[in-house]
Amino acid sequence: MKALVAREYTTLDGVVVTDVPQPAAGPGEVLVKVEAAALNPLDLALITGAMKGVFPVEHPLVVGMDASGTVAEVGEGVTAYTPGDPVVAFTGQAGAVAEYTVVAVGPHLAKRPAGLAAPRAAAIPESGMTATCLLRAVGLAAGESVLVVGATGGIGLYAVQLAASLGAKVIATATPDDADYVRGLGAQGTVDYKAGDVAEQTLRQVPDGVDVVVDLINRGDALSTTARALRDGGRLVSPLFGPQDFGRGVTGVYIGSFTAEPGDLEDLAARAADGRLRVEMGATYPFADARQAVSDFAGKHIRGKVVITVP
Ligand SMILES: NC(=O)c1ccc[n+]([C@@H]2O[C@H](COP(=O)([O-])OP(=O)(O)OC[C@H]3O[C@@H](n4cnc5c(N)ncnc54)[C@H](OP(=O)(O)O)[C@@H]3O)[C@@H](O)[C@H]2O)c1
Repeated sequence: MKALVAREYTTLDGVVVTDVPQPAAGPGEVLVKVEAAALNPLDLALITGAMKGVFPVEHPLVVGMDASGTVAEVGEGVTAYTPGDPVVAFTGQAGAVAEYTVVAVGPHLAKRPAGLAAPRAAAIPESGMTATCLLRAVGLAAGESVLVVGATGGIGLYAVQLAASLGAKVIATATPDDADYVRGLGAQGTVDYKAGDVAEQTLRQVPDGVDVVVDLINRGDALSTTARALRDGGRLVSPLFGPQDFGRGVTGVYIGSFTAEPGDLEDLAARAADGRLRVEMGATYPFADARQAVSDFAGKHIRGKVVITVP
């Protein structure tokens, strides 16, 4: 089968669409005929080896971890899926940008509802489930105010919408070009991260400070810059890492690798299918241009998700 492959740790333009052996579904797994895949920042680090101390990979690496398509075969013991079922999946660290991929039955695999085409579905798993886990970890509640830093990217796309749907007042980072876009996702206010201090701009809108910061950009001590936007006793949550305690009773929560609960992916897919969740595909590429998709994802400002369609 054809796949987007890194044969060794390489620069981003070193990935190629080439032939690799087709995987087979083992016990408890399904083989998916991929129709679309999406990219995430971790894909870039896995290609280059930037995080090989934490996430070493086996080569050849089939790039990508978000896929959508139809079930081609089911492995031993699988009863919940049958060949032909439309599905959406998080494949782990690799395997998605390919004609076929294998996924274990569990919270990272869901049936794709009618009305959710494969490209939109592929744009959901990693970012959507991470957003879900972040809001759950920080216990965001109706009526709270939340600043989302990194709102224009993949996780931000879902974090803004899910926070707004919980009944929170959302302030989102966006340049003026993207301000209407994030308001369309449900943000009530915006702060321009390229035009000054994000915390100061936020405090001008919420003088006592927000209840929650979802910071998708900063890590380590740099998180203290956005933690200043919090009220005393506020909570910061991040998919990266940083201090537990910022003073003033402000605490940090870090999810590490996200842990989806059963039903999370189904819920996101259902919301996308019936229009409650917008899926922003800022750029879509045919499989033959997958290398370009990787370069553009790394180098260009693209709203929401980058999707690759697979014939
Ligand atoms: N722990 C986990 O399980 C987990 C899961 C998924 C992701 N992550 C991590 O979470 C982070 C975010 O992921 P993502 O998929 O949302 O990334 P993404 O799609 O690349 O989005 C990042 C967004 O933030 C914007 N941005 C850049 N600098 C900013 C700043 N200083 N202030 C505000 N916004 C800024 C970017 O704009 P430009 O395009 O202009 O740069 C882009 O729109 C990554 O580091 C990723 O590795 C962790």
